[in-house]
Amino acid sequence: MSAVFERAARAAAAAPATSGVDPAFARDVLAGLSMQHKSIPSTWLYDHRGSELFEQITTLPEYYPTRTETWILERCAAQIAAEAGRGAIVVELGSGSSRKTPLLLQALDEPSGYVPIDISEQFLDESVQALARRFPALPMWPVVADFTRLNRLPVLSHGAPGGRRLVFFPGSTIGNFVPEAAVGLLERIGQAVGRGALLVIGADATQDRDVLIPAYDDAQGVTAAFNKNLLLRINRELEGDFSPSAFRHEARWDAQQHRIEMHLVSEYTQRVTVLGHAFRFAAGESIHTENSYKHGIVRFQALARRAGWTQKQLWMDAQSRFALHVLERDR
Ligand code: AVI
Repeated sequence: MSAVFERAARAAAAAPATSGVDPAFARDVLAGLSMQHKSIPSTWLYDHRGSELFEQITTLPEYYPTRTETWILERCAAQIAAEAGRGAIVVELGSGSSRKTPLLLQALDEPSGYVPIDISEQFLDESVQALARRFPALPMWPVVADFTRLNRLPVLSHGAPGGRRLVFFPGSTIGNFVPEAAVGLLERIGQAVGRGALLVIGADATQDRDVLIPAYDDAQGVTAAFNKNLLLRINRELEGDFSPSAFRHEARWDAQQHRIEMHLVSEYTQRVTVLGHAFRFAAGESIHTENSYKHGIVRFQALARRAGWTQKQLWMDAQSRFALHVLERDR
């Protein structure tokens, strides 16, 4: 084991001892900052403030994915509904504010249930209340859970009506997983919903750097604030002493790997402490905080096939920036 990884392992092992600290967050941060190429998993970007900032990002003029996916859904929901048939049960992953859900629900023929799954109880409560006002006859079974760990859904096995299962996974969140992890996640989703289920999944397909860089480094600085909020979260929850102004937000396009990366780049040589552990940063050294893969159609279909899903429908905008895939579970 290299010295770097030994140090990471020691730091990570020390983390749970501190009370009031989320041990998983502490482990990921201490281990991530101990790596040769510092990196922290993007899931930690989403505390309450991070989720608010992400909602703001989705309304920015430069951030095309949300409005493009909505535009597509407005035009293809009827055909998806025809494929789903009468009485479908809709399972939504990482439902958040569920803003696109009504487009699907209103097109479906007498859907028999809605199962939104989200890690944030507050977001779930708010969105279920709003949807219940619009769809008063639709039974709703919200599940507070991390959908990335999901491999069964008890709510679907206990007395749930027998319509076709339709998993709705919009927003191109699948792009935030490295390809192997994306295959694993799609496989687990398939196991949870079973053979014959449908998956309606949004995947950003853009490969144009001139579109991507502004989308991930907007003029108003909302994406920068979203990224730097991670440092504030570490300061608050893990006794960190990061100075957010000592780091700059950077979006980098890696054409080989087909992904946008978010980084926090140290403006100068500095030393930072987290939970009593010191970390050195050279000037220009970065913390890699997010990957957002932009899968072309063929590559995405290959990923889905490996996970046991077959393409039934494919919808795109006129500029081929974003794809809404409708897949069927074949095992
Ligand atoms: C949640 N996810 C799909 C967003 C994306 O585009 O990868 C997160 C995001 N990061 C910066 N801007 C938006």
